[in-house]
Amino acid sequence: MSDHENNAAVSTTNPRYVFFVFAFPPLFIMAFALVIVIYSSLFEGSKLKESEEAVAARIQPVARVELASASASAAKGSRTGEEIVTSTCAACHATGAAGAPKIGDKAAWAPRLGQGLSGLLKSATAGKNAMPPKGGSDATETELARAIVFMANKSGASFKEPVDKK
Ligand code: HEC
Repeated sequence: MSDHENNAAVSTTNPRYVFFVFAFPPLFIMAFALVIVIYSSLFEGSKLKESEEAVAARIQPVARVELASASASAAKGSRTGEEIVTSTCAACHATGAAGAPKIGDKAAWAPRLGQGLSGLLKSATAGKNAMPPKGGSDATETELARAIVFMANKSGASFKEPVDKK
């Protein structure tokens, strides 16, 4: 047996030795990296969940109000003029609050009706003096027009209710 033969067992060219020396460090690093990735994704996930819950809690009152108004009437876009008036416009237009022309007060409406439905729709959409845009409602254009028709027709006008154009 020569020295040369003995050395062959630990030679760097021995396939098994090569495997242990060169494959283990990368495997170890990969495993370590995997652990880090999993840990950080778990952490990110919980952070995300936490912020989602925080946002949900913050918007809850708004969501509840929207739910309440949605369940009180039909879906947005298909509410009648009366529904819009009752839920929003009546706050001012039923009592004349803030100088609003009262529903049924023909004298107060007469000078306004002259501009026609399109004129009234324009000023109601934009808002006028104490009246906020759309009367502060979330009515669609057609719903707003229906609400105006509803109020105006009780106050001396004979507008035709607009057809839904969505
Ligand atoms: C916060 C009170 C308030 C609410 C709510 C309100 N209005 Fe008014 N509205 C007013 C006031 C005040 C005026 C009179 C503005 C002026 O001429 O100075 C007015 C005027 C109008 C006019 C006449 C505009 C013109 O050109 O003369 C229309 C039409 C109208 N409102 C429609 C509506 C409709 C439809 C709603 C509901 C979607 C509504 N308003 C909700 C206060 C309100």
